[in-house]
Amino acid sequence: MKEDLYKKAIAVLDANFQDGGFTIPSAGLYPFQWKWDSGFIAIGFAHYDVEKAKTEMRTLLDAQWKNGFIPHIVFHTENDSYFPGADFHQSELHPLSSKRYRSTGMTQPPVTGFVLQEMYRIADDKKDMLNFIKEEIDKVYANHEYFYKNRDPQDEGLVYIYHNWESGTDNSPVWDDIWKTMNPPEYDFVRKDTTHVDASQRPSKREYDHYLHIIDIAKQNNYNDAKIAELSPFLVQDPLFNAMLIKSNQALIDLYIQIGGNEERIKNIIKWQSKSIKSFNDKLFDADLGAYVHYDLRNENPIRHITSSSFSPLFANIPSPERADVLVNTMMDKFGGEDKYLCASFDPTNDRFNPRKYWRGPVWINMNWMLFLGLKNYGFTDVAARMKQDSIELIEKYGFYEYFDCRKDTGDENPTGYGGNNFSWSAALFIDMVNTD
Ligand code: GLC
Repeated sequence: MKEDLYKKAIAVLDANFQDGGFTIPSAGLYPFQWKWDSGFIAIGFAHYDVEKAKTEMRTLLDAQWKNGFIPHIVFHTENDSYFPGADFHQSELHPLSSKRYRSTGMTQPPVTGFVLQEMYRIADDKKDMLNFIKEEIDKVYANHEYFYKNRDPQDEGLVYIYHNWESGTDNSPVWDDIWKTMNPPEYDFVRKDTTHVDASQRPSKREYDHYLHIIDIAKQNNYNDAKIAELSPFLVQDPLFNAMLIKSNQALIDLYIQIGGNEERIKNIIKWQSKSIKSFNDKLFDADLGAYVHYDLRNENPIRHITSSSFSPLFANIPSPERADVLVNTMMDKFGGEDKYLCASFDPTNDRFNPRKYWRGPVWINMNWMLFLGLKNYGFTDVAARMKQDSIELIEKYGFYEYFDCRKDTGDENPTGYGGNNFSWSAALFIDMVNTD
């Protein structure tokens, strides 16, 4: 069974790989290249087709702007089945945007550093992979430099996101508190997502008004970072985003040491890193909840809800071992009941929890993959094994869907997975988890 699934995972990835040298997350719903998807996809390819893994990363990094920014979607092709597309985002407004590719003017979690390191770990031919990494690594460094220079107005070592789509956890109930502080105009537009997926699983029209309004403000200011920091109604320090930056910082340090030279760069990253880890622990940990939380930088208050992002610092070695114990207790207490698969994306004991609506409760394989590795790092062997087992079981039961209901008994006659099917990162990270003890 597992062997068949493994072959199926490879078939999903290969079918989603495009002539332009990038992989779509899922046919129909997501027809372009997405930043963090690409990183996870490259990890999957690295297990069976190293050249495709390299191509995926090269293509993504090729879309980098002159200021080091890497966009969240690269619109390689004209495709009118997605809204909002290239014509809405108008990346060309920013003077340093790519002249070669149209893209969005927002980013996604900084995966590229740790992805290069994972590709090195997986590669049989280490010398060849290190040569590839030498080619690409300075672009990742420039991306981190961009974040610390432009996304940290109070010089705390914590970078902000200015849009919920930058978080990767697009429709999390965490953002509800911010929507309450905004009153955007009513936009007139035709959505495309609800032609691919049942509308009950997707955000509402009013939520889309908020999303478009933030982009409008950024566009009115030509995507200028300082202006966005000053004016965006959405400005958040997200634990998942910052944990991935910290994880990628460490990967850059390790890889630069392996390559040799680069003393100046290593020194800079170490400086960023120690400040980031300290602020992360001081500012984002909520002792009463026993978890890390998001911080609303615009309105200057913590957003006190527990999400799967709350546990992601385990992946980046951020908590002390004592604090890691607290985190895992919280996870098992609220998310880990025997009637559930690990790990819901939002606190199942909270009123806003919805097991089927995207990012408001379902299980996502990329989060499980990160948590699996994080738990393993800290020696939580049993919980790590369950995280892996639950992920595999969901895929065995339903297929390579985008996300899954976390309840073992959904009460449905014909239970199914949700969102896009034949979803690339579910396939890619299944391949990696199966290969990791
Ligand atoms: C959804 C997810 C986002 C992902 C994108 C493409 O928008 O919320 O994290 O990158 O789909 O798969």
